[in-house]
Amino acid sequence: MTAYLLDWLSLLGRWLHLTAGIAWIGSSFYFIWLDNHLVPPSDRELARKGVAGELWAVHGGGFYNSLKYRLAPETLPPQLHWFYWEAYATFLSGFFLLSLLYYGQAEVYLIDPSVAALSKPVAIAAGLAFLAGGWLIYDALCKSRLGRNGPALGGVLAVLLVAAAWGLCNLFSGRGAYLEFGSMLGTIMVANVFFVIIPGQRELVRAKREGREPDPRHAIAGKLRSTHNTYFTLPVLFVMISNHYAMTFGARENWLVLIAVSAAGVSIRQYFVARHKAHERNGHTSSFPAVLGVLILACVAFALTPVRAPGTSAAAGSHAAGFTRIQAIVAQRCQSCHAAAPTQPGFAAPPNGVLLDSPEHILAHTTQMRQQLAARTMPVGNLTGLTDNERTELLTWLENGAPH
Ligand code: HEC
Repeated sequence: MTAYLLDWLSLLGRWLHLTAGIAWIGSSFYFIWLDNHLVPPSDRELARKGVAGELWAVHGGGFYNSLKYRLAPETLPPQLHWFYWEAYATFLSGFFLLSLLYYGQAEVYLIDPSVAALSKPVAIAAGLAFLAGGWLIYDALCKSRLGRNGPALGGVLAVLLVAAAWGLCNLFSGRGAYLEFGSMLGTIMVANVFFVIIPGQRELVRAKREGREPDPRHAIAGKLRSTHNTYFTLPVLFVMISNHYAMTFGARENWLVLIAVSAAGVSIRQYFVARHKAHERNGHTSSFPAVLGVLILACVAFALTPVRAPGTSAAAGSHAAGFTRIQAIVAQRCQSCHAAAPTQPGFAAPPNGVLLDSPEHILAHTTQMRQQLAARTMPVGNLTGLTDNERTELLTWLENGAPH
């Protein structure tokens, strides 16, 4: 019953998280796009009123004409729309899911004794420390003297993120480490909105109301942080879908895969941001960042090409385990979760609908079993204690074409 309830909480949490995330990233991509497409207003009257740029668009059957003011309009409009609940709702629903799954069931999703034998409280504390620490260090760097030198700041952040990816992958299960990395970046993005961008905008509005000249420092800080957010987006989104791809988080050098795919994401995003401003370069945009991103992805895909597991040569095949032995291993190590009515606490239904409780069911999932076993991502958290020998037996049988 509790497992069934957990499934519903997780489903509703994910639904909200995805919806809020689309609203947030959608509006943030839209404003980056808008800002970069602005052209000086054609009407001199508008320029006199302090309009710095304008944009015409057609959407949903109507024409839109957006104007951006250099700092603020002469008088504030009666109704001003703000954008923050999208970001906060994404964070809150994300934190709810993280607590429900990765912290609440840390022994399943976060801890991998073969990586580090952490106790549950220690694992959760370390996970939370990465979220809070990531923001504190990042924020301190942006506010320091380094913050005024864009490339230097980017370089230092990149080195720190590589270190964080390495540290996380040496502390948690691959899947847990990836999710912590994405959550850490996501936390930085939301904290940028909460602690820097929104307070800066509030100050802008307050100054305007009080007839003061607004301090441009807030606008500059807000711009820097929202630029960082746009580059963090693709790595975060990759992490959020990575748990479906054991070949990434289950790779031997999974921290390197995480960094490489993230770097590809940043590079590809850079290309699109540059493209928005193509009108300033006679419509030309260098395709280098996009090509680089795709090349990195191709290299990662090549590097992760499955190799035959050791000990699965033809010679080993001759004393390979028979199907009866395979069924016995699967019954002992997999069926507590992968059955119509799982006996493993915390599981109300077979995960991903994968049943391994009969010869037919086992034979129907050989490709997926091979992937999961080779990447060592199953049994999840190795809760059922599959031994290395048993893993090799299963893999050998699968490599030999699953004879039965
Ligand atoms: C403690 C519970 C548990 C045990 C034991 C377990 N699994 Fe899983 N398995 C899971 C969960 C959870 C998922 C879903 C992972 C996800 O979210 O994608 C899963 C998913 C799978 C998938 C589907 C992956 C996909 O591509 O969608 C396969 C195949 C699989 N497990 C094979 C195995 C094999 C083989 C064993 C035994 C050696 C095993 N599992 C033991 C929990 C378990």
